[in-house]
Amino acid sequence: MLQNKKILLGISGSIAAYKTAVLVRLLIKAGAAVKVVMTPAAKDFVSPLTLSTLSKNQVLSDLSNNDSWSNHVMLGRWADVMLIAPLSCNSLAKMAHGICDNLLTAVYLSSTCPVIVAPAMDEDMWLHPAVQNNLQIIQQFGNQVIPVENGELASGLTGDGRMAEPETILSKLEDFFLYTKELAGKKVLVTAGPTYEALDPVRFIGNHSSGKMGIAIATEFQKRGATVTLVLGPSAIAAPAGMKVVHVQSANEMFTACTTVFDKMDIAVMSAAVADYTPVTVTEEKIKKSDDFFSVEFKKTKDILKHLGTVKKEGQILVGFALETHDEINNALKKLVDKNADLIILNSLNDTGAGFGTDTNKITIFDKNGGEHQFETKLKTAVAADIVNTIIRL
Ligand code: CTP
Repeated sequence: MLQNKKILLGISGSIAAYKTAVLVRLLIKAGAAVKVVMTPAAKDFVSPLTLSTLSKNQVLSDLSNNDSWSNHVMLGRWADVMLIAPLSCNSLAKMAHGICDNLLTAVYLSSTCPVIVAPAMDEDMWLHPAVQNNLQIIQQFGNQVIPVENGELASGLTGDGRMAEPETILSKLEDFFLYTKELAGKKVLVTAGPTYEALDPVRFIGNHSSGKMGIAIATEFQKRGATVTLVLGPSAIAAPAGMKVVHVQSANEMFTACTTVFDKMDIAVMSAAVADYTPVTVTEEKIKKSDDFFSVEFKKTKDILKHLGTVKKEGQILVGFALETHDEINNALKKLVDKNADLIILNSLNDTGAGFGTDTNKITIFDKNGGEHQFETKLKTAVAADIVNTIIRL
Protein backbone atom coordinates (compact mmCIF):
# COMPACT_ATOMS: atom_id res chain seq x y z
CA MET A 1 0.00 0.00 0.00
CA LEU A 2 2.86 2.42 0.74
CA GLN A 3 5.07 1.06 -2.05
CA ASN A 4 7.69 3.68 -3.00
CA LYS A 5 6.06 6.37 -0.87
CA LYS A 6 8.60 8.71 0.69
CA ILE A 7 7.87 9.33 4.34
CA LEU A 8 9.79 11.80 6.43
CA LEU A 9 9.27 10.84 10.06
CA GLY A 10 9.79 13.63 12.58
CA ILE A 11 10.16 12.43 16.17
CA SER A 12 9.84 14.85 19.06
CA GLY A 13 10.53 14.38 22.76
CA SER A 14 7.83 12.25 24.31
CA ILE A 15 7.90 8.86 25.97
CA ALA A 16 5.77 7.61 23.06
CA ALA A 17 8.90 7.98 20.90
CA TYR A 18 9.79 4.40 21.86
CA LYS A 19 6.90 3.24 19.64
CA THR A 20 8.56 4.75 16.56
CA ALA A 21 10.90 1.75 16.25
CA VAL A 22 7.83 -0.41 15.55
CA LEU A 23 6.33 2.33 13.36
CA VAL A 24 9.44 2.58 11.16
CA ARG A 25 9.49 -1.21 10.80
CA LEU A 26 5.83 -1.24 9.74
CA LEU A 27 6.42 1.55 7.21
CA ILE A 28 9.43 -0.21 5.69
CA LYS A 29 7.53 -3.52 5.55
CA ALA A 30 4.70 -1.70 3.73
CA GLY A 31 7.18 -0.65 1.04
CA ALA A 32 7.82 2.97 2.06
CA ALA A 33 11.16 4.78 2.01
CA VAL A 34 11.67 6.37 5.42
CA LYS A 35 13.97 9.14 6.57
CA VAL A 36 14.00 10.14 10.23
CA VAL A 37 14.52 13.58 11.76
CA MET A 38 14.62 13.80 15.57
CA THR A 39 14.59 16.67 18.01
CA PRO A 40 17.47 16.58 20.51
CA ALA A 41 14.98 15.66 23.27
CA ALA A 42 13.65 12.68 21.28
CA LYS A 43 17.08 11.03 21.49
CA ASP A 44 16.51 10.56 25.24
CA PHE A 45 13.58 8.28 24.47
CA VAL A 46 14.71 6.25 21.44
CA SER A 47 18.15 5.64 20.01
CA PRO A 48 19.09 7.11 16.61
CA LEU A 49 21.08 3.92 15.98
CA THR A 50 17.90 1.80 16.28
CA LEU A 51 16.05 4.09 13.89
CA SER A 52 18.85 4.37 11.33
CA THR A 53 19.18 0.56 11.33
CA LEU A 54 15.43 0.08 10.83
CA SER A 55 14.97 2.89 8.30
CA LYS A 56 18.22 2.05 6.45
CA ASN A 57 18.95 5.78 6.37
CA GLN A 58 21.06 8.09 8.47
CA VAL A 59 19.01 9.75 11.22
CA LEU A 60 19.33 13.54 11.31
CA SER A 61 18.82 15.80 14.29
CA ASP A 62 21.15 18.78 13.97
CA LEU A 63 20.89 21.76 11.66
CA SER A 64 24.67 21.62 11.34
CA ASN A 65 27.19 19.03 12.36
CA ASN A 66 30.87 20.00 12.56
CA ASP A 67 31.47 21.22 9.01
CA SER A 68 28.31 19.84 7.34
CA TRP A 69 24.87 21.41 7.11
CA SER A 70 21.59 19.46 6.94
CA ASN A 71 19.57 20.71 4.00
CA HIS A 72 16.15 21.07 5.64
CA VAL A 73 14.56 22.42 2.46
CA MET A 74 15.52 19.39 0.36
CA LEU A 75 14.34 16.98 3.08
CA GLY A 76 10.87 18.54 2.95
CA ARG A 77 10.90 18.41 -0.84
CA TRP A 78 12.01 14.79 -0.91
CA ALA A 79 9.02 13.60 1.10
CA ASP A 80 5.55 12.71 -0.17
CA VAL A 81 4.36 13.27 3.37
CA MET A 82 5.91 14.44 6.62
CA LEU A 83 4.67 12.49 9.63
CA ILE A 84 5.44 13.93 13.06
CA ALA A 85 4.98 11.17 15.63
CA PRO A 86 4.99 11.62 18.51
CA LEU A 87 4.21 15.33 18.45
CA SER A 88 5.06 16.74 21.87
CA CYS A 89 3.34 19.72 23.44
CA ASN A 90 6.48 21.81 22.90
CA SER A 91 6.93 20.94 19.22
CA LEU A 92 3.19 21.54 18.66
CA ALA A 93 3.56 25.06 20.08
CA LYS A 94 6.56 25.70 17.85
CA MET A 95 4.66 24.53 14.77
CA ALA A 96 1.70 26.76 15.65
CA HIS A 97 3.86 29.84 16.15
CA GLY A 98 6.58 29.40 13.56
CA ILE A 99 9.46 28.82 15.96
CA CYS A 100 12.47 27.29 14.27
CA ASP A 101 15.11 26.16 16.77
CA ASN A 102 16.00 22.63 15.64
CA LEU A 103 16.16 20.56 12.46
CA LEU A 104 12.65 19.13 12.88
CA THR A 105 10.99 22.56 13.15
CA ALA A 106 13.16 23.89 10.29
CA VAL A 107 12.09 20.98 8.05
CA TYR A 108 8.44 21.47 9.06
CA LEU A 109 8.47 25.20 8.32
CA SER A 110 10.11 24.75 4.93
CA SER A 111 8.19 21.63 3.86
CA THR A 112 5.93 21.80 0.83
CA CYS A 113 4.44 18.33 1.31
CA PRO A 114 1.35 17.53 3.42
CA VAL A 115 2.03 17.12 7.14
CA ILE A 116 0.32 14.61 9.42
CA VAL A 117 0.88 14.65 13.17
CA ALA A 118 0.23 12.16 15.97
CA PRO A 119 0.25 14.08 19.25
CA ALA A 120 1.19 12.47 22.57
CA MET A 121 0.99 14.00 26.01
CA ASP A 122 -0.54 13.59 29.43
CA GLU A 123 -4.29 14.22 29.67
CA ASP A 124 -4.11 17.44 31.69
CA MET A 125 -1.62 18.92 29.24
CA TRP A 126 -3.66 17.69 26.30
CA LEU A 127 -6.80 19.37 27.61
CA HIS A 128 -5.11 22.71 28.36
CA PRO A 129 -6.68 25.48 26.26
CA ALA A 130 -3.23 26.58 25.02
CA VAL A 131 -2.62 23.09 23.59
CA GLN A 132 -6.10 22.80 22.09
CA ASN A 133 -5.69 26.26 20.59
CA ASN A 134 -2.32 25.34 19.05
CA LEU A 135 -3.89 22.19 17.65
CA GLN A 136 -6.59 24.25 15.96
CA ILE A 137 -3.98 26.62 14.56
CA ILE A 138 -1.94 23.85 12.94
CA GLN A 139 -5.10 22.30 11.48
CA GLN A 140 -6.00 25.66 9.99
CA PHE A 141 -2.56 25.63 8.36
CA GLY A 142 -3.72 22.43 6.61
CA ASN A 143 -1.94 19.87 8.81
CA GLN A 144 -3.83 16.68 9.59
CA VAL A 145 -4.06 15.35 13.12
CA ILE A 146 -4.31 11.66 14.03
CA PRO A 147 -6.46 11.70 17.18
CA VAL A 148 -4.90 10.75 20.50
CA GLU A 149 -6.14 7.56 22.13
CA ASN A 150 -7.55 6.95 25.59
CA GLY A 151 -5.68 4.64 27.93
CA GLU A 152 -2.82 4.32 30.36
CA LEU A 153 -0.49 7.32 30.30
CA ALA A 154 3.18 7.71 31.24
CA SER A 155 2.13 9.46 34.45
CA GLY A 156 0.34 6.33 35.57
CA LEU A 157 -3.03 8.04 35.12
CA THR A 158 -5.61 6.89 32.62
CA GLY A 159 -7.18 9.23 30.10
CA ASP A 160 -6.83 10.93 26.71
CA GLY A 161 -3.40 11.72 25.32
CA ARG A 162 -1.78 8.44 24.26
CA MET A 163 -0.21 8.57 20.82
CA ALA A 164 -2.15 6.46 18.33
CA GLU A 165 -0.71 2.95 18.04
CA PRO A 166 1.79 2.37 15.17
CA GLU A 167 -0.76 0.15 13.38
CA THR A 168 -3.36 2.97 13.53
CA ILE A 169 -0.83 5.49 12.20
CA LEU A 170 0.03 3.10 9.36
CA SER A 171 -3.62 2.74 8.38
CA LYS A 172 -4.10 6.54 8.51
CA LEU A 173 -1.17 6.92 6.12
CA GLU A 174 -2.66 4.29 3.82
CA ASP A 175 -5.99 6.20 3.86
CA PHE A 176 -4.11 9.40 3.17
CA PHE A 177 -2.46 8.01 0.03
CA LEU A 178 -5.73 6.44 -1.09
CA TYR A 179 -7.47 9.79 -0.68
CA THR A 180 -4.77 11.88 -2.28
CA LYS A 181 -5.11 9.89 -5.48
CA GLU A 182 -8.77 10.86 -5.84
CA LEU A 183 -8.26 14.39 -7.15
CA ALA A 184 -4.61 14.22 -8.17
CA GLY A 185 -4.03 16.46 -11.18
CA LYS A 186 -7.26 18.42 -10.68
CA LYS A 187 -7.14 22.17 -10.30
CA VAL A 188 -9.59 23.74 -7.88
CA LEU A 189 -10.51 27.35 -7.20
CA VAL A 190 -12.10 28.20 -3.84
CA THR A 191 -13.25 31.61 -2.61
CA ALA A 192 -13.57 32.27 1.11
CA GLY A 193 -14.20 34.98 3.66
CA PRO A 194 -15.99 38.30 3.44
CA THR A 195 -15.29 41.25 1.16
CA TYR A 196 -14.73 44.79 2.37
CA GLU A 197 -16.11 47.64 0.27
CA ALA A 198 -14.28 50.88 1.03
CA LEU A 199 -16.21 54.08 1.82
CA ASP A 200 -13.18 56.25 2.53
CA PRO A 201 -9.55 55.55 3.55
CA VAL A 202 -10.61 54.33 7.02
CA ARG A 203 -14.07 52.80 6.66
CA PHE A 204 -15.64 49.91 4.80
CA ILE A 205 -18.89 47.96 4.50
CA GLY A 206 -18.29 44.28 5.28
CA ASN A 207 -20.02 41.21 6.66
CA HIS A 208 -19.55 38.64 9.41
CA SER A 209 -18.11 35.81 7.31
CA SER A 210 -15.05 34.30 9.06
CA GLY A 211 -13.74 32.34 6.08
CA LYS A 212 -13.78 29.09 8.13
CA MET A 213 -16.04 27.13 5.77
CA GLY A 214 -14.16 28.10 2.59
CA ILE A 215 -10.77 27.45 4.16
CA ALA A 216 -11.98 24.02 5.34
CA ILE A 217 -13.13 23.25 1.76
CA ALA A 218 -9.81 24.37 0.27
CA THR A 219 -7.95 22.23 2.84
CA GLU A 220 -10.12 19.18 2.07
CA PHE A 221 -9.46 19.50 -1.68
CA GLN A 222 -5.76 19.73 -0.95
CA LYS A 223 -5.94 16.56 1.15
CA ARG A 224 -7.46 14.73 -1.82
CA GLY A 225 -4.51 15.68 -3.99
CA ALA A 226 -5.96 18.65 -5.91
CA THR A 227 -3.91 21.76 -6.70
CA VAL A 228 -5.81 24.49 -4.90
CA THR A 229 -6.00 28.23 -5.51
CA LEU A 230 -7.69 29.99 -2.60
CA VAL A 231 -8.99 33.51 -3.19
CA LEU A 232 -9.35 34.82 0.32
CA GLY A 233 -11.13 37.95 1.47
CA PRO A 234 -10.04 39.71 4.68
CA SER A 235 -10.16 36.90 7.23
CA ALA A 236 -8.56 36.63 10.67
CA ILE A 237 -7.78 32.97 9.93
CA ALA A 238 -4.34 32.22 8.50
CA ALA A 239 -4.43 30.69 5.04
CA PRO A 240 -3.34 27.04 4.96
CA ALA A 241 0.18 26.19 3.83
CA GLY A 242 0.84 24.39 0.57
CA MET A 243 -1.74 26.09 -1.64
CA LYS A 244 -1.70 29.22 -3.76
CA VAL A 245 -3.43 31.98 -1.83
CA VAL A 246 -4.58 35.23 -3.44
CA HIS A 247 -5.52 37.82 -0.83
CA VAL A 248 -8.22 40.28 -1.87
CA GLN A 249 -10.28 42.96 -0.16
CA SER A 250 -13.20 43.96 -2.36
CA ALA A 251 -15.77 42.12 -4.49
CA ASN A 252 -14.15 43.64 -7.56
CA GLU A 253 -10.69 42.34 -6.60
CA MET A 254 -12.22 38.91 -5.95
CA PHE A 255 -13.90 39.01 -9.38
CA THR A 256 -10.56 39.77 -11.08
CA ALA A 257 -8.68 37.10 -9.10
CA CYS A 258 -11.28 34.45 -9.99
CA THR A 259 -11.80 35.32 -13.64
CA THR A 260 -8.03 35.39 -14.25
CA VAL A 261 -7.62 31.72 -13.27
CA PHE A 262 -11.05 30.12 -13.87
CA ASP A 263 -10.27 28.99 -17.41
CA LYS A 264 -7.61 26.56 -16.10
CA MET A 265 -9.77 25.15 -13.29
CA ASP A 266 -11.61 21.82 -13.18
CA ILE A 267 -13.70 22.78 -10.15
CA ALA A 268 -14.64 26.15 -8.62
CA VAL A 269 -16.37 26.52 -5.26
CA MET A 270 -17.59 30.01 -4.46
CA SER A 271 -18.00 30.02 -0.71
CA ALA A 272 -17.09 33.66 -0.08
CA ALA A 273 -19.73 36.04 1.25
CA VAL A 274 -19.31 38.59 -1.50
CA ALA A 275 -20.83 42.06 -1.09
CA ASP A 276 -23.78 42.47 -3.45
CA TYR A 277 -23.39 46.28 -3.46
CA THR A 278 -20.44 48.65 -3.22
CA PRO A 279 -20.39 52.44 -2.65
CA VAL A 280 -20.63 54.42 -5.90
CA THR A 281 -17.83 56.73 -4.77
CA VAL A 282 -14.91 56.16 -2.44
CA THR A 283 -13.70 59.47 -1.06
CA GLU A 284 -9.97 60.03 -0.98
CA GLU A 285 -10.20 61.82 2.34
CA LYS A 286 -11.88 60.66 5.51
CA ILE A 287 -15.60 61.53 5.57
CA LYS A 288 -16.13 64.11 8.33
CA LYS A 289 -19.11 64.02 10.68
CA SER A 290 -21.74 66.64 9.73
CA ASP A 291 -25.53 66.21 9.39
CA ASP A 292 -27.68 63.99 11.60
CA PHE A 293 -28.38 61.67 8.71
CA PHE A 294 -25.95 60.37 6.20
CA SER A 295 -26.65 58.32 3.12
CA VAL A 296 -24.42 56.42 0.78
CA GLU A 297 -25.30 55.46 -2.76
CA PHE A 298 -24.48 51.90 -3.71
CA LYS A 299 -24.13 50.13 -7.03
CA LYS A 300 -24.29 46.40 -7.71
CA THR A 301 -21.04 44.43 -7.66
CA LYS A 302 -20.31 41.92 -10.38
CA ASP A 303 -21.71 38.50 -9.46
CA ILE A 304 -18.66 36.24 -9.71
CA LEU A 305 -20.56 32.95 -9.54
CA LYS A 306 -23.05 34.10 -12.17
CA HIS A 307 -20.28 35.30 -14.46
CA LEU A 308 -18.36 32.02 -14.14
CA GLY A 309 -21.65 30.21 -14.92
CA THR A 310 -21.81 32.03 -18.26
CA VAL A 311 -18.22 31.24 -19.30
CA LYS A 312 -18.14 27.70 -17.86
CA LYS A 313 -16.89 25.06 -20.30
CA GLU A 314 -17.99 21.43 -20.66
CA GLY A 315 -16.48 19.40 -17.81
CA GLN A 316 -15.91 22.32 -15.44
CA ILE A 317 -17.84 22.00 -12.17
CA LEU A 318 -19.16 25.17 -10.59
CA VAL A 319 -20.42 25.21 -7.01
CA GLY A 320 -22.14 28.07 -5.20
CA PHE A 321 -23.50 28.74 -1.74
CA ALA A 322 -26.88 30.08 -0.70
CA LEU A 323 -27.15 31.54 2.77
CA GLU A 324 -30.84 32.06 3.37
CA THR A 325 -33.14 33.24 6.13
CA HIS A 326 -36.52 32.36 4.55
CA ASP A 327 -38.02 30.28 1.74
CA GLU A 328 -34.65 28.53 1.78
CA ILE A 329 -35.19 25.66 -0.67
CA ASN A 330 -36.86 27.78 -3.36
CA ASN A 331 -34.17 30.45 -3.08
CA ALA A 332 -31.40 27.84 -3.32
CA LEU A 333 -33.00 26.15 -6.36
CA LYS A 334 -33.44 29.56 -8.02
CA LYS A 335 -29.70 30.27 -7.54
CA LEU A 336 -28.82 26.86 -9.01
CA VAL A 337 -30.62 27.79 -12.23
CA ASP A 338 -29.91 31.57 -12.36
CA LYS A 339 -26.17 31.11 -11.85
CA ASN A 340 -25.85 27.98 -14.05
CA ALA A 341 -24.17 26.17 -11.14
CA ASP A 342 -23.76 22.40 -10.90
CA LEU A 343 -24.32 22.38 -7.15
CA ILE A 344 -25.74 24.85 -4.65
CA ILE A 345 -24.96 24.40 -0.99
CA LEU A 346 -27.71 25.77 1.19
CA ASN A 347 -27.18 26.87 4.75
CA SER A 348 -30.06 28.40 6.59
CA LEU A 349 -29.55 30.93 9.35
CA ASN A 350 -32.61 29.35 10.98
CA ASP A 351 -30.62 26.20 11.79
CA THR A 352 -28.66 26.28 15.04
CA GLY A 353 -24.97 25.65 14.50
CA ALA A 354 -25.07 26.96 10.91
CA GLY A 355 -23.79 30.15 9.33
CA PHE A 356 -21.09 32.73 10.00
CA GLY A 357 -18.32 32.40 12.58
CA THR A 358 -19.43 29.06 14.06
CA ASP A 359 -17.18 25.96 14.00
CA THR A 360 -20.13 23.89 12.77
CA ASN A 361 -22.48 24.06 9.82
CA LYS A 362 -25.62 22.32 8.58
CA ILE A 363 -26.01 22.05 4.84
CA THR A 364 -28.25 20.69 2.14
CA ILE A 365 -26.76 20.28 -1.33
CA PHE A 366 -28.91 20.59 -4.46
CA ASP A 367 -27.45 19.33 -7.72
CA LYS A 368 -28.36 20.20 -11.29
CA ASN A 369 -29.73 16.69 -11.87
CA GLY A 370 -32.46 17.29 -9.30
CA GLY A 371 -30.66 15.52 -6.43
CA GLU A 372 -31.01 16.75 -2.87
CA HIS A 373 -28.44 15.71 -0.24
CA GLN A 374 -29.12 16.56 3.41
CA PHE A 375 -26.46 16.48 6.12
CA GLU A 376 -26.52 16.75 9.90
CA THR A 377 -24.89 19.60 11.84
CA LYS A 378 -21.14 18.85 11.86
CA LEU A 379 -17.77 20.51 12.31
CA LYS A 380 -16.97 22.62 9.26
CA THR A 381 -14.00 20.31 8.51
CA ALA A 382 -16.43 17.35 8.29
CA VAL A 383 -18.91 19.43 6.25
CA ALA A 384 -16.05 20.18 3.84
CA ALA A 385 -15.47 16.42 3.41
CA ASP A 386 -19.21 15.93 2.63
CA ILE A 387 -19.06 18.72 0.04
CA VAL A 388 -15.95 17.31 -1.66
CA ASN A 389 -17.44 13.78 -1.66
CA THR A 390 -20.63 15.08 -3.29
CA ILE A 391 -18.61 16.92 -5.94
CA ILE A 392 -16.57 13.77 -6.66
CA ARG A 393 -19.77 11.72 -7.07
CA LEU A 394 -21.10 14.34 -9.48
N1 CTP B 1 -21.61 35.51 -5.13
C1 CTP B 1 -20.65 35.90 -6.03
N2 CTP B 1 -20.52 37.22 -6.35
C2 CTP B 1 -21.34 38.15 -5.80
C3 CTP B 1 -22.33 37.75 -4.89
C4 CTP B 1 -22.44 36.41 -4.58
O1 CTP B 1 -19.89 35.06 -6.52
N3 CTP B 1 -21.17 39.41 -6.14
C5 CTP B 1 -21.74 34.07 -4.84
C6 CTP B 1 -21.44 33.65 -3.44
O2 CTP B 1 -20.08 33.34 -3.25
C7 CTP B 1 -22.32 32.44 -3.27
C8 CTP B 1 -23.51 32.71 -4.16
O3 CTP B 1 -23.08 33.72 -5.06
O4 CTP B 1 -21.70 31.28 -3.76
C9 CTP B 1 -24.77 33.14 -3.46
O5 CTP B 1 -24.59 34.35 -2.84
P1 CTP B 1 -25.83 35.20 -2.25
O6 CTP B 1 -25.27 36.51 -1.83
O7 CTP B 1 -26.52 34.40 -1.23
O8 CTP B 1 -26.77 35.27 -3.45
P2 CTP B 1 -27.20 36.45 -4.32
O9 CTP B 1 -27.18 35.95 -5.69
O10 CTP B 1 -26.38 37.64 -4.03
O11 CTP B 1 -28.72 36.65 -3.92
P3 CTP B 1 -29.42 37.32 -2.64
O12 CTP B 1 -28.46 38.31 -2.07
O13 CTP B 1 -30.61 37.88 -3.22
O14 CTP B 1 -29.69 36.19 -1.71
